[in-house]
Amino acid sequence: MKKTKSKLKKRGILNKNGKLMAVYPGSFDPVTNGHIDVAKRALTVFGEVVIAVIENHSKKTCFTVRERTSMLKKALSQYGIEGVRVDSFEGLLVDYMKNIGAGIIVRGLRAVSDFEYEFQMALMNRKLSPDIETVFFMTDAKYAYLSSSIVKEVAFLGGDITPAVPASAAVKLMKKRSKYPVRLRRAPLLKKGNFKKRRKNDEKFCS
Ligand code: PNS
Repeated sequence: MKKTKSKLKKRGILNKNGKLMAVYPGSFDPVTNGHIDVAKRALTVFGEVVIAVIENHSKKTCFTVRERTSMLKKALSQYGIEGVRVDSFEGLLVDYMKNIGAGIIVRGLRAVSDFEYEFQMALMNRKLSPDIETVFFMTDAKYAYLSSSIVKEVAFLGGDITPAVPASAAVKLMKKRSKYPVRLRRAPLLKKGNFKKRRKNDEKFCS
């Protein structure tokens, strides 16, 4: 038993306190209620969950890593979620995992459409580091339609995003929106110049 425990610790499946540990990586740009739901589900299995926010993503992010981690921390405290720590990382996920001594990746699945991307990532991570396993949690069906991208689009166009994100993210999104308001006028938008102006504003919203 002792031998098994030390083996599991070596693989990063148990943390130094003997608790099951997992890393939940992502861009969290911004955190949504769906992410929080996955973190809570992961806590039903793992004693410690590290939310790892990617710093320099190949995808352009709307919020800085500092803003994204701060929104997550505030959301976890708002919902009184304990056992989840927020961290950030750069470079390969498997390298970060080795650095902190973790062996399990947690990812959320909303629908079949997520599967291909997740499958590809899980297999690539396994190829890079065969000892690291990926575990998936299905989100609650009521969050299946939610994504950070859709939330940003709705926020930018003036829609109500409060039911979709924790308060910390709603505040940040609304601040951005007030900085770059979109005035919807039908005819002028069809002109080339206005279209360009609108796209520029759209880019500013996410920088
Ligand atoms: O929330 P996202 O954008 O779907 O998260 C994707 C993320 C950050 C988990 C993924 O892009 C990642 O792990 N990036 C780090 C670079 C890496 O390790 N790439 C190889 C495995 S895909």
